Amino acid sequence: MSDLKKLEEDILKAVDAAEDEKALEDVRVAALGKKGSISELLKGLGKMSPEERKEMGPALNGLKTLVGDAITARKEALHDAAIEARLASETVDVTLPVRAAPLSEGRVHPISQVWDEVTAIFGDMGFTVEEGPDVETDYYNFEALNFPEGHPAREMHDTFYFHPKEDGSRLLLRTHTSPVQVRTMEKGKPPFRFIAPGRTFRCDSDQTHTPQFHQVEGLVVDETTHMGHLKWTLETFLASFFETDNVEIRFRPSFFPFTEPSMEVDVRCARLGNEIRIGEGEDWLEILGCGMIHPNVLKSAGIDPERYQGFAFGMGIDRIAMLKYGIPDLRAFFEADLRWLKHYGFQALDMPTLDGGLSS
Ligand code: PHE
Repeated sequence: MSDLKKLEEDILKAVDAAEDEKALEDVRVAALGKKGSISELLKGLGKMSPEERKEMGPALNGLKTLVGDAITARKEALHDAAIEARLASETVDVTLPVRAAPLSEGRVHPISQVWDEVTAIFGDMGFTVEEGPDVETDYYNFEALNFPEGHPAREMHDTFYFHPKEDGSRLLLRTHTSPVQVRTMEKGKPPFRFIAPGRTFRCDSDQTHTPQFHQVEGLVVDETTHMGHLKWTLETFLASFFETDNVEIRFRPSFFPFTEPSMEVDVRCARLGNEIRIGEGEDWLEILGCGMIHPNVLKSAGIDPERYQGFAFGMGIDRIAMLKYGIPDLRAFFEADLRWLKHYGFQALDMPTLDGGLSS
């Protein structure tokens, strides 16, 4: 009997010591498998005398049941422990702050934002978007726009010229987006209604001028287009852009070789220290140049000025961006300072639309 007791103790000790399911299975096979210690003892029952069998039978079967139960219990405990360990190792601390994803970190530059806003507004008014090259010929930048060779108005443009070519002609960086007027008109047939946003260049630099800046050109040509259309177009655009109902503008006579008459447009505003509020107050702020397209420009584009007429305007994108978003220094636009961009920039997926909101 003490042998059986010893066997029982040994097996139960081994069960307890089994660290994983594999080790436990080895213990089971060693005790209850075909050649296991308990199985071997059970096999010996047949050879015993009836008295011996009467005593050993229940004792061995009891041991078999006891060991079987102990193994089952240990197996469950090991299984639970394995799950616990896995859960512990895969824990996610949901209280940690969310790590910023590139999408939420990135910003759209105010110039790109305003460019998109302007395009959304004029797109809604039925204007298409046209483009021209940054490197221009003298012809498109000046000549075709009624600036003849030697015309003093050329001097007003502080042009960046490239080295002269062998034939004496010189390429230049376009000083305004107006070259896109003739480039676009000569490719098509009237009526025209387009804008042309783009990069422009002048040799100039101070708080409100940078050598590279942005303009948006606008042009409408049809048989009966007149100054009333121009005024309505500008008022409607400015109200939409500045997101206010009270835009008031005034025309001041001006001069551009490619328009006749030529006007500069001021918008009513209030100046409160550094802040400028459009649509209220007693001040006026110059905002763009415009006019009725000069017949010579239509002729350059192969259009009969006896039949067609229209208006054009040119506006500084950087300038209206500064006004709308209260950005005091133009030069910061071009400095690529991430802190500045974080402050003045826009969320990447907030596309400006008229129904969804321009700047919100
Ligand atoms: N191109 C002019 C400028 O840069 C602006 C302008 C455009 C004026 C179209 C009239 C018509 O100052």
